[in-house]
Amino acid sequence: MKTQNENRLQEISKFVQAYLKESYQNRSQEDKANLERFLSNANYRWNHTLRVAQFGKVIAENESADVELIVVACLLHDLAWFDTNAKNSREHGRIGAEKARPILESQGYDHAQVEIICYAIAAHVDEDNPETLEAKILSDADNVDRFGPYRILQWCFSDIEDYDKLAAKLSERIHRLEYYREQNPLFTPTGQQLFAEQLNLQIRFFSEFVGEKELSVMPRI
Ligand SMILES: [Fe+2]
Repeated sequence: MKTQNENRLQEISKFVQAYLKESYQNRSQEDKANLERFLSNANYRWNHTLRVAQFGKVIAENESADVELIVVACLLHDLAWFDTNAKNSREHGRIGAEKARPILESQGYDHAQVEIICYAIAAHVDEDNPETLEAKILSDADNVDRFGPYRILQWCFSDIEDYDKLAAKLSERIHRLEYYREQNPLFTPTGQQLFAEQLNLQIRFFSEFVGEKELSVMPRI
């Protein structure tokens, strides 16, 4: 039999999945075409959400935070992703927090828990210091997934038909990634460790790609 916690996580996940699907469908055809171009549709957003919840769980366990609150905040963090456009995309945090509140209350979370979760959702888009441990963990989990293998494909995909351009772009990108690795701006030690692993993978892959391009010449004998 499922525990109460499992049941409410299930309800929240059903709600988020349906909401993402519906709000994506409501975008104009032109918006949808643009979003698809950047490999961002409701399906991507939901899979990203699930991975953020996985990373959030690992970080919460290591940082002695409340795992359930973090997982719930992760599941709801991009709820309003398709309610905003590119110009005000940062607002998806605050709009998402407002939309998350009633579902959290209906699932029996108390006032303090709802505040913790909603603050983390609202703040995850801000670059300045989020004030709570939960908000820091959500931001870290989101950033870890933003540098995962899928993003490697995303970087390559848009210029896949122009080899020279792609190699030049990735060569440039390696410097930026090395800078991120040096700065490691994530908030928690576990988040920093996961972020470094993602960056190592990207840097390694892009470096191999650039090396392969350099090999694409006639050998000198
Ligand atoms: Fe996200």
